[in-house]
Amino acid sequence: MPVPQADAIVLFGATGDLARRMLLASLYFLDADGFLPPGFRIVATARTEMDTPAFLDVVRGALTERSEGVEPAVWARFCARLTYVAADATQAEGAARLCTALQGATSPFFYLAISPSLYERVTAALRAAGLVDDHTRIVLEKPIGRDLETSREINTALGAVFGENQIFRIDHYLGKETVQNLIALRFANTLFEPLWNNLTIDHVQITVAETEGVGERWPYYDEYGALRDMLQNHMLQLLCLVAMEPPADMEPDSVRNEKVKVLRSLRRVTRADVTDRSVRGQYTPGVVGGKAVEGYEAERGEKSGTETFVALRADIDNWRWAGVPFFLRTGKRMPEKRTQISLQFKPVPHSIFGLASTQDLVANRLVIDLQPDEDISLTLMNKAPGISQGGMRLQSMPLSLSLLRAYEGPGARRRIAYERLLLDVIHGDATLFVRRDEVEEAWRWVDGVADAWAEAKLTPKPYAAGSWGPSGAFALIERFGRAWSE
Ligand code: BG6
Repeated sequence: MPVPQADAIVLFGATGDLARRMLLASLYFLDADGFLPPGFRIVATARTEMDTPAFLDVVRGALTERSEGVEPAVWARFCARLTYVAADATQAEGAARLCTALQGATSPFFYLAISPSLYERVTAALRAAGLVDDHTRIVLEKPIGRDLETSREINTALGAVFGENQIFRIDHYLGKETVQNLIALRFANTLFEPLWNNLTIDHVQITVAETEGVGERWPYYDEYGALRDMLQNHMLQLLCLVAMEPPADMEPDSVRNEKVKVLRSLRRVTRADVTDRSVRGQYTPGVVGGKAVEGYEAERGEKSGTETFVALRADIDNWRWAGVPFFLRTGKRMPEKRTQISLQFKPVPHSIFGLASTQDLVANRLVIDLQPDEDISLTLMNKAPGISQGGMRLQSMPLSLSLLRAYEGPGARRRIAYERLLLDVIHGDATLFVRRDEVEEAWRWVDGVADAWAEAKLTPKPYAAGSWGPSGAFALIERFGRAWSE
């Protein structure tokens, strides 16, 4: 049966940071570009007492902080769609207020931008209020749990109210243009796929570096750390998209089946090899972007054993990737914001060049920059220009495709990852959302790392804010005969 197009969103946690900065702005941009269905309604809800005009002031304030500005005609249309409801959605009375606000809407969807500890009570209240039927979609933010066990609890509680096809688990990285472009790069070109395996690729690196610190978010972050906050979800999703087999089509389950197979093939990290294969770090005071910044413990106000940096070697035990290490690293307070995937090809099997030129030889590398700039570059060996003593000299040059420049102007690539994802929920397309078994397989592997850390008593090593993490991160990759791509 076709999924009806949604005609309203109920946004829980509407006064929170995510809703204010990302979700409401995304809805506004979708409206500006004519993507919201006619008559589509936005019911924003949180416990804070305020009326709709006061809430709209907050939304407008957040929008004006952005470079795109606010267009009066779009803003007027957007305001007409939006109602703010002050309600405790875990209670019958709160759910009843939402019912009133939703009168006339036949297929609303619910977006829970709230703590997972409230999911069960909110969904139970929605069901009791008669707001859930077989088509009602529910959107969940990460973290879905803190480990396999707690993620199962959440998934089971939601499963009691919603079918799996009604649950849309967000990983906002999947909404990024650049991340989707990975699928296009791999499966809309014949060029790379025959080379995309252990016969040709030496290793893969995935770096997600942020200059921001944890700041005010530490009450959440301190419980999770970089492993659970970034690696369990965003980085493993990137790894899956790089490593998965070609799906038969872009249907949600075709893509998700392939990703799950990759997660299941990840070799478990154990107590015996965790020290060789992983590094935890925590930032201390330093300088980022020319500004002196505090260390993590000063932000938190006391000592902490939580990592703000993690680097590790992952191995995918299947035919395509056997023997190809995947080096992952992510950290806060790094020298620059950079999300990058780099595939290092093997060196030429035999050099026909003289000794001096052979020393110039650098193996090919495909670098996919996802943030802040969207760039794909392939390093190729060339003859160095001019004549030289003792034969031809060689040099490595990038063949570079700047997607940012290529897509300037009309048809420019979309701004906020959530825009794509919200539109997909409206149309009921779950391809870019994470299925229950994916989340749980990712936790199973991450739990293995966390358990091995605990058994080995591996504590975070300090690194100065503004550096590329503790020295152990360099030692880790060098131990396996490679170096981080800078
Ligand atoms: C979130 C994490 O999921 O992703 C944050 O909780 C992190 O800690 C953020 O800063 C990074 O997202 P982006 O889109 O800025 O790379």
